[in-house]
Amino acid sequence: MEIKILNLTKAYGDFKAVDDMNLSVADGELIGLLGPSGCGKSTTLFMLAGLTEPTSGQIFFGDKDVTRVPPEDREIGLVFQNYALYPHMTVLDNITFPLINRKVKKAEAIERAQEMAHLVQLDGLLNRKPSALSGGQQQRVAIARALVKKPQVLLLDEPLSNLDAKLRVETREEIKRIQQEVKITTLFVTHDQEEAMSISNRIAVMNRGVVQQYDAPQAMYLNPINSFVAQFLGMPQINMFEAKVTGRGVELNGVLLRTREQLDAAGKKVADGTYQMGVRPESLELCEDGFTVKADSVRMTGRDLLIFFKIGTTEFRALTHSDLQLRAGDDLCLRARKNSLIIFDADGSALVKC
Ligand SMILES: Nc1ncnc2c1ncn2[C@@H]1O[C@H](COP(=O)(O)OP(=O)(O)O)[C@@H](O)[C@H]1O
Ligand SMILES: [Mg+2]
Repeated sequence: MEIKILNLTKAYGDFKAVDDMNLSVADGELIGLLGPSGCGKSTTLFMLAGLTEPTSGQIFFGDKDVTRVPPEDREIGLVFQNYALYPHMTVLDNITFPLINRKVKKAEAIERAQEMAHLVQLDGLLNRKPSALSGGQQQRVAIARALVKKPQVLLLDEPLSNLDAKLRVETREEIKRIQQEVKITTLFVTHDQEEAMSISNRIAVMNRGVVQQYDAPQAMYLNPINSFVAQFLGMPQINMFEAKVTGRGVELNGVLLRTREQLDAAGKKVADGTYQMGVRPESLELCEDGFTVKADSVRMTGRDLLIFFKIGTTEFRALTHSDLQLRAGDDLCLRARKNSLIIFDADGSALVKC
C-alpha cells in the first residue's frame, strides 16, 4: 500500500503540532519518523491511524482518500511502546482477539494466530500469559496481534523504548525481518537516530512539527540539509563551530582547514565572512601534514578512541581506532577528510560541503 500525505496539519489553538507535512511512502517501504520528543511524531502517526483528526490536509492510502475514514476501516496495524496486551489473556487469546472481535470463526482465528506466532518466533509460548514473557517477547505478541488482520499499513510508535539496550537491538532486527517478510508498508516512530538509520529505507526527520529532510539514511547522514539534521544524526555528535572564510580559505584560530582553492573547488562561491560549520568526529583523521593540536583527554569507548581537543577555545572530538596509543597531553596532527566540512548559511541551511 502506497501512502501519500498532503499538506497535513494538526493545530491545538495557535500551536501546530504538525505543520504542513508532505510525504510519500512507496509500497513495502519502511519509513522512520525521527525527531526529538514533542516534535509531532505521534501526532502524525495518530492521524494516519485515524485516532486524531487533522486540522487540514489529506491522507491517501493508495488512491483512496482516508482522511475521514474511521480507524477500524483503514486496515492498519498499530503497535505502541507499552505493548498494551490484555494481561489476563494468554498469548494466543491476545493474538486472536482482533479476529474474534470481527467474528472470524474460532478455528480459522487460531490457525492465523499460529501463523503469526510462527512469523514473530513465538511458537511454543502461545499458552503463556504476558507476565510470563520478556519485554521483547511481549512486543512480538503486540506485533503479531497488529498483523493478524493482514493490514495494509503497519504503524509503530516507539515500539522499542521500553526494552533494554541489547533487546532493543535484537527486536529492531526482528521488526525489520518481519516487515520484509510480510512486505508491509511501515511507519516506525522513534527519537533514536541510530535505530531509525539502521532499519529504515528512508527517514523523515522532524523538528517542531516540520519535516526537515526526507531521505535515505546514508544520504541524509552525509548530506544533511541543515544544521538541525546534521546535529540530530550521529553519535558522538558532529563538531559544530564558527570559523572564518577569507581570501586564504577556511580559517579557525590560525588553523587553515581549507585553502580558498579547495573551497572554491566545491562548486559554490562562498563570500568572505563568519559561518557556522560542522565536521563529524570520524572525519578528523590523523595525518603527517595537517594541523597540530594537543589532546585534552582521551576516552576509550570499545571500538573507538574518542579524542577531545581544542582549537582556540572551540572544543572538538575526533574518533580514531582503539588500538592507537595516545594519552592526554600528547600532540597529534590532524586534518578534516576531503568533502567532510559542511558550511552553513545564517538560516542554518547547508551551503556547501568541501
Ligand atoms: N491533545 C493535545 N493538546 C495539546 N497539545 C498536544 C496534544 N497532543 C499533543 N500535543 C502537543 O503536540 C506536540 C507534539 O506531540 P507528539 O506528537 O506527541 O510528539 P512526539 O511524539 O514527537 O514526542 C507536543 O508539543 C505536545 O505537547
Ligand atoms: Mg510520541
